[in-house]
Amino acid sequence: MPSFRVMPVDNLLAKKRDSAGRLRKVLGPLDLTALGIGAIIGTGIFVITGVAAARYAGPGLIISFIAAGLASGLAALVYAELAATVPVAGSAYTFTYISLGELLAWLVGWNLILEYLVAAGAVSIGWSSYLVSLLQSAGINLPLALIASPAARGIFNLPAAFITGLVTVLIISGTRQGAAVNKIIVMVKVAVILLFIFLGFKHINPANWRPFLPFGVAGIFHGAAIIFFAFIGFDAVSTAAEEVKEPQRSLPLGILLSLGVSTLLYILVTIILTGIVNYKALDTASPMAAALSAIGLRWGSALVATGALAGLTSVILVTMYGQSRIFFAMSRDGLLPSFFSRLHPRFQTPLWNNLFIGSGVALIGALLPINIVAELANIGTLSAFFAVSIGLIILRRTRPDLPRPFRLPGYPVTPLLAAGAALYLAVNLPPLTWVRFFIWVILGIIFYFSYGRRHSALGQENAAIKQVKKKPSLLFPAPLRKPADKKTPPLKPDK
Ligand code: ALA
Repeated sequence: MPSFRVMPVDNLLAKKRDSAGRLRKVLGPLDLTALGIGAIIGTGIFVITGVAAARYAGPGLIISFIAAGLASGLAALVYAELAATVPVAGSAYTFTYISLGELLAWLVGWNLILEYLVAAGAVSIGWSSYLVSLLQSAGINLPLALIASPAARGIFNLPAAFITGLVTVLIISGTRQGAAVNKIIVMVKVAVILLFIFLGFKHINPANWRPFLPFGVAGIFHGAAIIFFAFIGFDAVSTAAEEVKEPQRSLPLGILLSLGVSTLLYILVTIILTGIVNYKALDTASPMAAALSAIGLRWGSALVATGALAGLTSVILVTMYGQSRIFFAMSRDGLLPSFFSRLHPRFQTPLWNNLFIGSGVALIGALLPINIVAELANIGTLSAFFAVSIGLIILRRTRPDLPRPFRLPGYPVTPLLAAGAALYLAVNLPPLTWVRFFIWVILGIIFYFSYGRRHSALGQENAAIKQVKKKPSLLFPAPLRKPADKKTPPLKPDK
């Protein structure tokens, strides 16, 4: 079955070595951890936490964060092992290609568009709402037509499209500059969160935690499925594999460290947030700023809002960067048109690829509402986590010989738990999200059979090998057969 052909790992590593358009190796472990935190901490904590507490989980959102953090931690261990074993651009898409075959790899790559491109759109909408509220507090009111999508009674969300354009220019100008700007933004973002924790700590009133589970135990898991968005992004570290100096060591470190730091901060923020105000008061697009305002700390609120704006910028930056590297890998494998892997001679970055992504993110941000976009990103990411966890088990069986600089503990229970946890969180998403997801998958299958399958580099290599075997030529003569191979009848003894 050609659609289930598996990419040999050695092919992949050779392709990476010989690739004419090699990406520059400029990133170290600190850059990677910053890249991870840059992608992880964003709309999830700054925007979605409020609605998740007010409508789904109440103060029990603290447990939701622990549950989603555990599920993401299991997946992070899977990604850490695979990224160290096969440090090639493409992340979950590549891991699936070498374990579960081409069709499933294509589908995972297709769903990663939800995790990266679509998620970046969601974050640009969050960025826009923070900017609008900061401008409003300074007395500047922009017309509704230019700050909201048609679903929110506007026409075009201009700030969302604006920030996407700005980030696109930054990404095109080069990885080194992007990483440097990202590090500064990450420092601002973490400082602002620490400030929030510090300011809020003294104002905790344990009465706000009663009742702890106003929506019951089920609310914990509905909340976890929604705020899972906050954890998306640690795998963006593995999309940078080909630009990392010591990938075998740095990748697992970057993935696990960035997720660990973010999870700890999330849990602390949620404890403070639900402790300083009643969960019902958190039904707002800027819950952390609103909570500080509610306890009279207006200056703290403005500072947190500014930090959130910077933080959201880095999420857009890293998710768009990750998307471009995934398209890069898929195009190099022939499953997407070649312009996605063509590097600009001066910047050494994939220019057309970045322009395509920038346009897609800008359109999503300008025209769609945040809840639909964020939930689609969640289900797309969870489907990738599921496939990659199963892929790890298969790769351990099919290629036990591969050097694995990092081995996840507790095999095979850990990857099985990772797959189960991803599935469980996905089941807790609203049914309409599942319907949209199925439509998306069907579109992906149609695209694969009308383009990818016919242009697959692996398919063409396999076909060429078959052709050579069939038609011996002077350059590729048929292998000499040993007489024993011939199916000739045994000689009969002379009479
Ligand atoms: N985890 C990222 C965020 O919360 C996508 O914005």
